[in-house]
Amino acid sequence: MSKFAKRMTTMEKSAAVIRNLFGNMNDPEIISFGGGAPAIEALPIDIVREITNEVMRIDERGVEALQYGGVMGLPDLREVIINDLLAPKGVKGSIDNVLITNGGLEPINLVCQLYIEPDDVILVESPTFVHAVEIFEMFQAKCISVDMDDNGIITEDLEAKIIKYKPKIVYLVPTFQNPTGRTLSLDRREKIAELGSKYDVIILEDDPYRDIRYSGSDLPPIKAFDETGHTILANSFSKIFSPGSRLGYILANDELTAKLFDSKTATNSHTSTLSQVVCAEFFKRGYYPAHHKKICDLYRERRDVMIECIDKFFPEGTKRTFPDGGLFTWAELPGGINTTELLVESTTNPEVKVSYIAGESFFIEGGGMGNNCMRISFGGVNPEKIIIGAEKLGNLICSKLA
Ligand SMILES: Cc1ncc(COP(=O)(O)O)c(C=O)c1O
Repeated sequence: MSKFAKRMTTMEKSAAVIRNLFGNMNDPEIISFGGGAPAIEALPIDIVREITNEVMRIDERGVEALQYGGVMGLPDLREVIINDLLAPKGVKGSIDNVLITNGGLEPINLVCQLYIEPDDVILVESPTFVHAVEIFEMFQAKCISVDMDDNGIITEDLEAKIIKYKPKIVYLVPTFQNPTGRTLSLDRREKIAELGSKYDVIILEDDPYRDIRYSGSDLPPIKAFDETGHTILANSFSKIFSPGSRLGYILANDELTAKLFDSKTATNSHTSTLSQVVCAEFFKRGYYPAHHKKICDLYRERRDVMIECIDKFFPEGTKRTFPDGGLFTWAELPGGINTTELLVESTTNPEVKVSYIAGESFFIEGGGMGNNCMRISFGGVNPEKIIIGAEKLGNLICSKLA
């Protein structure tokens, strides 16, 4: 057999973490607070059927949907992004600067293609999104973590590490972060855009949860403060429309867009035109505002139930975040409980059968960082099951402290 490329070794650890994370997601007996998939009630199935019925005709958009398409993506979907999704958030841009991608992971991959040589440094939040780390490791980058607090990444630590490590990229999820649900404050957003310009570093702003805000006040993306083109905004339609349609996008300046165009061409030519047509029509026919309200109401209720249950059933001394949007909360347990070990019991004990994601998977340092933490996803579980699952999990945790 030929020797595998070195990149397969560097990504081995994070790839294994991801395989383990989602291993038990489909066990019907388990109440899963593990995955990050949208609620099934949040998938616009009937609307998509209606749109597809109408547009899949030869005299409508049938040919466009099934034929090869342009590298950048369909112009009307890019217009939707500029006018409906970015302009209201204070981000200016032209459709010429929007590239449609295969979901929200492809932007990360394409940006790495542009910049990353083996051993280049990428700064990431601590904790961070594991899947992004897997991509960074595939490019043989060296990830270094930056401290966070309740207001997101700490900009003093970030600046110090930019000076020390001279990274190519700073990667962050500023809004309702995966895994913690935390949101970066306004002043830090402004500061991070400035740091990108000052030190000539790419700020990769990955913001797929931003549009699912159900409490608190909206904040502009970091990109809204970018005056030099150092910030690249990546987003996904997975949480607001459908993950199965595999749609996402990147907004970048002219120079970077030209390079991204070349990387996208070499990677897969373009994103599914079928998905793009359906998604563009979903927005253009005016379905989004009501759908958006529906999913925000649904997730708000689930967040409220989950937070109430954690406060009620988890032991005293538990710390948890209160997300104003998105799908996750993050809990830090008292008393030295190891959440990786606890997960084995919580998923196999027939009296419990509840899963979550153990905190240490999200820390690149290893060495037990985050081993008393858990990511709890409430988005995909209905309120009745949240109550049952959180009570069982809480009781199990309490039993360890007794
Ligand atoms: C922070 C973050 N970025 C990117 C993605 C990937 O999005 P997609 O599922 O559209 O590829 C996710 C998905 O969960 C995510 O949490």
